[in-house]
Amino acid sequence: MQKKKSKILVLGFGTVGQGFYELFHSKQEALGLKGVSISEIVDMKYGHIIDPEENILDELKGGKTYPKIEPVQAIKNSDANIVCEFTWLDLKSAEPAFTHIHTALGLGKNVITTNKGPSALKFRELNDLAKERGVKFLMKGTVMAGTPSFNLLELLPGIEVKSVRGIMNGTTNFILGSMEEGNTFDIALQKAQQLGYAEADPSNDVDGFDAAAKITIISNLLGWNHEFNKIEVEGIREINQEQAKQKTKLIAYADRNTAYVKPMKLSNDDILANVKGVMNAIEFETDTLGIIYSMGPGAGRIQTAQAAMTDLVSLFR
Ligand code: HSE
Repeated sequence: MQKKKSKILVLGFGTVGQGFYELFHSKQEALGLKGVSISEIVDMKYGHIIDPEENILDELKGGKTYPKIEPVQAIKNSDANIVCEFTWLDLKSAEPAFTHIHTALGLGKNVITTNKGPSALKFRELNDLAKERGVKFLMKGTVMAGTPSFNLLELLPGIEVKSVRGIMNGTTNFILGSMEEGNTFDIALQKAQQLGYAEADPSNDVDGFDAAAKITIISNLLGWNHEFNKIEVEGIREINQEQAKQKTKLIAYADRNTAYVKPMKLSNDDILANVKGVMNAIEFETDTLGIIYSMGPGAGRIQTAQAAMTDLVSLFR
């Protein structure tokens, strides 16, 4: 794809959208993306911003807003050839992100998203549509933020993945680590919320659904096609301090035949047993390399923005 002609429409200008905006401008020159621009931003709160100035974040902090527009209408009207979908997560309906992404792909626009809803629940439909229209549906930010996860496999032509195992939810890993240090579940959860790791309603994290969405997405990308609603999911609410001290971790696992998320007691020499705090890690069992790992942050403003940058740059390869 031509860098010179590329325009980006950003949908959703919250934490990730703003992080991406900043990161894009700070790395644009170094990445040779001078011909690429963020030409539009659409957000429920801020409205429709056309050709935003670089200081837009300061303006918005000062309370400035723009005319409102329906996101679908904005996508249809837009001449951007890349849509970055950063709206909120709904693991039941995948909306409104699904409709945004479906509309954009249908119009022949490339889509980059960090939203697990459409990627976990509607992967095949959206991926088929992207293929049909000759565009890309990219979702690196849905699994382990910018830390290499499934995209590592692009560096390994022909490799066959036999299984995937990982710690893919930072909030629960932080809670279990905090319980290992002697805190109760409630105190550990409160800390995770204060530090901004967990959501105000943290049930997607603590009940395992966030990790289940991530293992579903990986399984979709590997062609195993496990369904989100059929995966065995168990969270960490029943885990006590004693179990946390014995290296119990919330493990997401998939191979061709099965997929699950559940707390598991790991042996001390298991690399995943030593993944601390909000860190994430993934292990691939492969045919040619045996076991390979990647570890790093799985959430955060700039960490997730990095994932969208990775996807953006991949469009021009
Ligand atoms: N709540 C998620 C986590 C954020 O704690 O890992 C990233 O999906």
